[in-house]
Amino acid sequence: MLWRRLEALVSLSFFSVGLALNNGVGVTPAMGYNPYNAFLCSTTEAQYHTAAQTLVSLGLPALGYHYFNLDCAWQSTARDSAGRITWNNTTLPAGVPALATFVHNLGLKFGVYSDGGVFACDFVGGTAHYVGSLGHETSDAATFASWGADYLKYDNCYAVNSTDFVDFNPPIAIEPHYTAMSNALAATGRPILFSACEWGVQDPARWPASAVANSWRISNDIGPPASWDNLFRIINQVVPITQFAGPGGFNDLDMLEVGNSGLTADEQQTHFAFWAAVKSPLIISTDLTAISSQALAVLKNTRIIALNQDSLGKSISFKRRYTNDHDVWSGPLADGSTVAVIINWQTASRSLTFNLADVGFSSATATDLITGASLGKITTSFTTTVPAHGSMVLKLAGGVAVASPTFTFYAATSGTLVGGAAPRVVNSSVTVVGFIGNGGTLTLSGVDGGTSGGTKLVSFDYINGDVTFTNTACSNCRNTMVSVNGGTAVQVQMPLSAQTWDILFSGYLVSLSGFKAGKTNTITLSNPTAFAPDFYRVGVAV
Ligand SMILES: *[C@@H]1O[C@H](CO)[C@@H](O)[C@H](O)[C@H]1NC(C)=O
Ligand SMILES: *[C@@H]1O[C@H](CO)[C@@H](O)[C@H](O)[C@H]1NC(C)=O
Ligand SMILES: *[C@@H]1O[C@H](CO)[C@@H](O)[C@H](O)[C@H]1NC(C)=O
Ligand SMILES: *[C@@H]1O[C@H](CO)[C@@H](O)[C@H](O)[C@H]1NC(C)=O
Repeated sequence: MLWRRLEALVSLSFFSVGLALNNGVGVTPAMGYNPYNAFLCSTTEAQYHTAAQTLVSLGLPALGYHYFNLDCAWQSTARDSAGRITWNNTTLPAGVPALATFVHNLGLKFGVYSDGGVFACDFVGGTAHYVGSLGHETSDAATFASWGADYLKYDNCYAVNSTDFVDFNPPIAIEPHYTAMSNALAATGRPILFSACEWGVQDPARWPASAVANSWRISNDIGPPASWDNLFRIINQVVPITQFAGPGGFNDLDMLEVGNSGLTADEQQTHFAFWAAVKSPLIISTDLTAISSQALAVLKNTRIIALNQDSLGKSISFKRRYTNDHDVWSGPLADGSTVAVIINWQTASRSLTFNLADVGFSSATATDLITGASLGKITTSFTTTVPAHGSMVLKLAGGVAVASPTFTFYAATSGTLVGGAAPRVVNSSVTVVGFIGNGGTLTLSGVDGGTSGGTKLVSFDYINGDVTFTNTACSNCRNTMVSVNGGTAVQVQMPLSAQTWDILFSGYLVSLSGFKAGKTNTITLSNPTAFAPDFYRVGVAV
């Protein structure tokens, strides 16, 4: 669709708002239901009927959950005699058009599911061989439109060839598969929300996928099974791409695990609030016939839903990590206020202090969006009890800006390199020090501790392109041990800066103690058991 490309270029050059798919749908993040996280690839027609009816009887569509979507295994293993994609008569005896009518008659929008590969995904190790849409985009889009589809989730199995089931590092470019289906959907003339599900492979946020899709998965699946570790992996993975969310195109952190086992009630609350504030689609994916009242209350919190559907469409972004303690994220809302999300990484209920300076304010009028309680004017900080892996979600109005600190910067390449640590040229203007850790260390000397020394705010500019699709000890993050003047090293957990090794994270802040007055301090970066990020420079607050 040439016209769409031209329009995208015009909007980029004239308004600098970035590329956005202008298909009239998905202007705010999609909300709805998909059975996968509870039923995997085994949902029957009867279960689809029950789930759609239950979505309605629970009052969820009125809150915005409008899309009712199929997932894997609805398809047949063969096309029909005319070469069209078709369904499995055992799974869906009445067929997809009848199911679409059933769903539409409930006042819902109907979503289909397919795959930009030779075969589609399944949950039997790739042996089912359901038909994929690769090479059949025009035909399949027309079929989906004829069935009345309003949404297409487009998966990425067998994208390379008929033997390569799931590939996180494919030898081909994945983008053309999604562009082809996007163009085919546009050619149908029916507005169909396009949900790209290629698991964050090849960094879709930066293609940018916003030119072809209304949302794009940023990571490997959230489950099954649901776990806090999966949330940590995905939260770290969205850090470098929050700026790509905007009206009509959003980072997709995967479907919700609210209601499913594997997460505590407080973890489910944190999961939902974070997904809402980062503007991820909110797709319920649990057995609605068995959902607890607690999980339902999480999904029905209209203040958190409003955060997700805010017309500005901007994501919260990473502000500060107090390693193993708490994260601070914040972002703007359409009414000029700010939302702050503070995640308790501790595994116990504890008193947590949120420093307003971490989101750029000295004071603000705060509302607790989880409970709705007005907290009045808060100044400098706010302290409350937060449960294990729970969170604070605060709307801050009338924020008074606090002056940003200024830093004296020390280039990593000016330091003393020991072990394997070595400079790495990124480009003509940026050289970093890499191979810190596993014996390699970087020591900066002559660091200015000011007139009194003590505790200083320290800023790190680094590159960490160590993307992972499975959980590790530090999934999508790397640890650095930081020691001031040879004192006890402090663990600092640094999330991804990108999926590649050429994009900086600038201004990762840590308060460090042990500075002496004057310009005789040292800062040493190391990691005894793994590699740290590559460092560009370290700043110490003046
Ligand atoms: C339809 O689904 C059933 C049950 O999963 C399966 O046994 C059968 O092979 C499928 N048929 C086709 C044509 O895909
Ligand atoms: C499904 O059933 C319809 C008739 O209800 C039939 O025309 C079609 O061939 C069947 N498809 C498969 C894959 O068995
Ligand atoms: C499929 O692609 C993989 C690489 O992704 C390759 O190793 C394999 O040989 C290919 N198989 C065929 C049959 O082309
Ligand atoms: C070098 O890389 C940095 C970090 O990604 C980037 O900000 C800068 O624009 C690049 N400079 C050149 C000349 O490519």
